[in-house]
Amino acid sequence: MRKLILIICLGMIPTAGFTSAGGGDLDYVEVSLKDKVSLQNGARLFVNYCMSCHSAQFMRYNRMAADLEIPEDLVVEQMIFNGGKIGDPMTTTMSREDGEAWFGVAPPDLSLIGKLRDPEWLYTYLRTFYVDDSTASGWNNKTFSNVAMPHVLADLQGVQKAVFKTETDHDGNEHQVIAGFELIREGSMTLEEFDGAMRDLTNFLYYMGEPARMVRIGWGIWVLLFLGVFGSFAYLLKKEYWRDVH
Ligand code: HEC
Repeated sequence: MRKLILIICLGMIPTAGFTSAGGGDLDYVEVSLKDKVSLQNGARLFVNYCMSCHSAQFMRYNRMAADLEIPEDLVVEQMIFNGGKIGDPMTTTMSREDGEAWFGVAPPDLSLIGKLRDPEWLYTYLRTFYVDDSTASGWNNKTFSNVAMPHVLADLQGVQKAVFKTETDHDGNEHQVIAGFELIREGSMTLEEFDGAMRDLTNFLYYMGEPARMVRIGWGIWVLLFLGVFGSFAYLLKKEYWRDVH
């Protein structure tokens, strides 16, 4: 019996947090779908800084408004820039052809990026752009080498350059790896403020990757409550049945 309970309990531990990070060296971030203020700020950053290139076509403005508790008129006034309506999917005005012509790679749709990439990956990616004269855009990224995306948040974060160190692998070959970053131009935010903003943006991308998680979390609490109440009744009942036997 004890074993059975243990197995059931183990099965209830959420597994999402344990999926492999991939890429190594990622910074930890805590996402929370209950933190509406963080999700709202993430949504604001997303529509202002990302949607000129990326779409989120599986998300509709009114669904986002309802889930994140943003009044619909505020969404229409401040978050829809392409003349769209509240029931429209969140598309970008940039065509695939233009994207390819300008960046070499069309900026991908980001609706499901929060499902494809772990929060740690996204959070680290958004904070590790650095200047690099050898690339077409003048930018590079520690988490996604030679990425075609420019550092669109440089005004907020500032501009950083990478500091390299030499590492020798098992075969005795030397490699240059990034040891850290050095800020060479300040942005409008402090580094702590920028980290907080990127946590919010990551939180929003995570939400968008699977909006149903929000509903499921609500249900989960009721299921646990039910199990608790049901469990105590079952226990009392068992005591009642066995009273005469002992
Ligand atoms: C100026 C255009 C542009 C803007 C604005 C932009 N991106 Fe990108 N982004 C790109 C391009 C181009 C790529 C494809 C990079 C590649 O594959 O090399 C990309 C790739 C990405 C990826 C990697 C997708 C993958 O393959 O895993 C993520 C994540 C991403 N962008 C997030 C964002 C976020 C969040 C914002 C807003 C802060 C943003 N982008 C703003 C152009 C842009």
